[in-house]
Amino acid sequence: MALVEPLDDEQLNRVWSPLLSPLAWDLGHIANFEELWLVRRVGGREPLRGELGRFYDAIENPRKVRGELPILRDEELRAYMADVRQRTLDVLEGVEIGADVEDPLLRDGFVYEMLLAHELQHNETMLQLLQLVDGYVPLRAEFGSSPDAVPQTPEAVTIAAGEHSIGAGPRGFAYDNERPRHQVELDAFEIDRIPVSNGAYVSYMEATGAEPPLYWERDGDGWIDTSRGQRAPIDRDLPVIHVSWEQADGFARWTGKRLPSEFEWEAAREQLDGIGHGWEWTSSHFLAYPGFEAFPYREYSEVFFGGAHRVLRGSSWATHPRVARPTFRNWDLPQRRQIFAGLRCARNA
Ligand SMILES: [Fe+2]
Repeated sequence: MALVEPLDDEQLNRVWSPLLSPLAWDLGHIANFEELWLVRRVGGREPLRGELGRFYDAIENPRKVRGELPILRDEELRAYMADVRQRTLDVLEGVEIGADVEDPLLRDGFVYEMLLAHELQHNETMLQLLQLVDGYVPLRAEFGSSPDAVPQTPEAVTIAAGEHSIGAGPRGFAYDNERPRHQVELDAFEIDRIPVSNGAYVSYMEATGAEPPLYWERDGDGWIDTSRGQRAPIDRDLPVIHVSWEQADGFARWTGKRLPSEFEWEAAREQLDGIGHGWEWTSSHFLAYPGFEAFPYREYSEVFFGGAHRVLRGSSWATHPRVARPTFRNWDLPQRRQIFAGLRCARNA
């Protein structure tokens, strides 16, 4: 609610982009998802608004149609969110969520962690949309540990050939797509210690005529950032964000390197700097790990597996630390630029 406090109802209901939901949909969906899993599944209670929930199903209602749906708006929306939260707290009072609980939904509080993560991930999606709102200033400070300045020519770290443990262990919260933890054999590789900077990306555009990142505009000899209606000069020392996978892949090839695979990224993570300003595109398609089991529902990750999406690792300035696990896998289509995503380069050693 702090994120949307500066906005009026018209701005909450408006369709800003076919790639992103109206903010009112995100808000109702967050509450409806909480109602579905905590109030109904765990608490065994009836829905507050009957069949309304189907309009908040993310798979049934793709982003480009969400502005047309008969969703809750304005005061009615805020009242529904408050009612759901009150019921959630009531259910929590009477529920067992310890390590010994038999129901895997409740063991270690899994479903509560899932709902927190879901809401925090939607906050990041909402911040993607808020890039389109003139004059918007996020109320919250940046979450990420960066943006530290990054050198234009990065130093690389070498990772020896060998087996690496990839993915989340059996305990604690993680999504189904991060499990099971398994061994992956990697050839020796080099990976840059830091992500690609805006300055390096400008050099790439000048040398090749490549497209600029989203929200960049030419201004005289330089480039400016026009997100949130601003006209701020590009800081050449910050990591580049708002580039597509195609742009990231093109940049890496131009330098004679390549994108790291997601396994290389995870294996090298302890030695990498500059994580936290932008997600990092990898060369990997979003696929199931060997022995994958969908839990607790197929539509979180299983329906996205295949060749269409590329994996991103790390986190961005808009990612809550609770979401930024070393094993967390983000994914999107290779042409998309609305996410806060950049890259770092790798090559065979
Ligand atoms: Fe969602």
